[in-house]
Amino acid sequence: MEKENIYILGIESSCDDTSTAVLCNDKILSNVVADQKIHAEYGGVVPELASRAHQQNIVPVVHQALEKAGVNKDQLSAIAFTRGPGLMGSLLVGTSFAKSLAYGLHIPLIDVNHMQAHILAHFIDEDDHAKPPFPFLAMTISGGHTQIVKVSNHFEMEVIGETIDDAVGEAYDKSGKVLGLGYPAGPEIDRRAQLGNPKAYKFTKPKVDGLNFSFSGLKTAILYFVQRETKANANFVEENLNDICASIQYTIIGILMDKLKLAVKQTSIKHIAIGGGVSANSGIRKALKDGEQKFGWTTYIPKLEYTTDNAAMIAIVGYLKFLKKDFSDFDVMATARLKI
Ligand code: KG4
Ligand code: ZN
Repeated sequence: MEKENIYILGIESSCDDTSTAVLCNDKILSNVVADQKIHAEYGGVVPELASRAHQQNIVPVVHQALEKAGVNKDQLSAIAFTRGPGLMGSLLVGTSFAKSLAYGLHIPLIDVNHMQAHILAHFIDEDDHAKPPFPFLAMTISGGHTQIVKVSNHFEMEVIGETIDDAVGEAYDKSGKVLGLGYPAGPEIDRRAQLGNPKAYKFTKPKVDGLNFSFSGLKTAILYFVQRETKANANFVEENLNDICASIQYTIIGILMDKLKLAVKQTSIKHIAIGGGVSANSGIRKALKDGEQKFGWTTYIPKLEYTTDNAAMIAIVGYLKFLKKDFSDFDVMATARLKI
C-alpha cells in the first residue's frame, strides 16, 4: 500500500517576519514571507509594531501559502508553529492563530523551537543540497542568535557555545549605524567589504573563554575609532568606507572561525552546517569553504530562503515531530526564552 502524504502548515512569527509554509512530507510546496519594512525607519525591530504587523499579515500569508501549494486546508495533517525563543508579543500572534486553526480543523498542533528549526532546515529535501550526517556542528548566526550546537540526531542537540552579549548580526547592524549605513547594515557592509582592504584597520578580538562569543566590545571599539579618526578628518568615514567595512568583516569572520576551529578540535566533528541571516555573508561562506581544504571540514550551507527566518524550517520540524507523534497540548504557551 502506498504511504499517505503528510501535509504540514508551518507558522513563524518570532521576530519581524510573518511567514507560513506548506510542506508535503519533507518537500516544501510553498514558503511565504511578509517582512516588515516599518522597522528600517527606527534602525531596529520595534516589538510593539512587530506584533501589530503580524496580526495584519497572518491571515493573508496563510491563504497565500495554501494557494501557492495548491493544498486545501482540509488536507492538512497538522499545524506547526514557533513557540520560542523570540519576542513575546510576536510569538503570541502565531501561537494563538496556530491553536485556533488546529482546533477548528481537528488536527494535531506541534510546537517548534525556533533555534532547532534553524538547524533542521538542512533536512528539507532539495535536489542540490546534501543533508549533514550525524553528529555535526551547527553554527547559527543571525540578528538574534550566535550559537554553536552539537547535533547528535534530529532532536538531541547541545549548545556548546553562544554569545554572552550581542548576536553577530547585531555587531554588523550596530557597526553600520556608527558608519551611517541603513538598517539592516549586514548586506551593505558585506558588499563594501569585497571592495576594500581587510587589513587596513585593526580591531582587537574579544577574549572570551571556551566556545562562547562576545560582540559588544567590537561595536564600542568601532565607535571610538570612528570618533577619533573623524576628529582629525571630518570626511574619514566617507573616504575610507570600503576599507573600514572590510576590516570589520575581517575581524568578525576571524572571531567566528577561531571558535569554530576550537569546536572542531574539542569535538572531533568535521561536518559543519550553518544557518541564520548572517550565513548569507560572502566572507563567511568563503572562509568555511577554504576550511574544507585547510582543515578537512565538510560544510553545509542551506538555500538563503531557508536560512533567514522562515516557516519552511518550522514546517520541516513539524514533519519530523509528526513522524514521532510528538504533538502539543492545546494549553502550550509561547515562551520568549525557550532553550534548545
Ligand atoms: O535570520 P535573519 O533574517 O533574522 C534574525 O535576526 O533572526 O538575520 C538578519 C541579520 C541582520 O542582522 C542582517 O544584518 C544580517 O542578518 N545579514 C548579514 C548579511 N545578510 C543579512 N550580515 C552580514 N552579511 C550579509 N550578507
Ligand atoms: Zn532566527
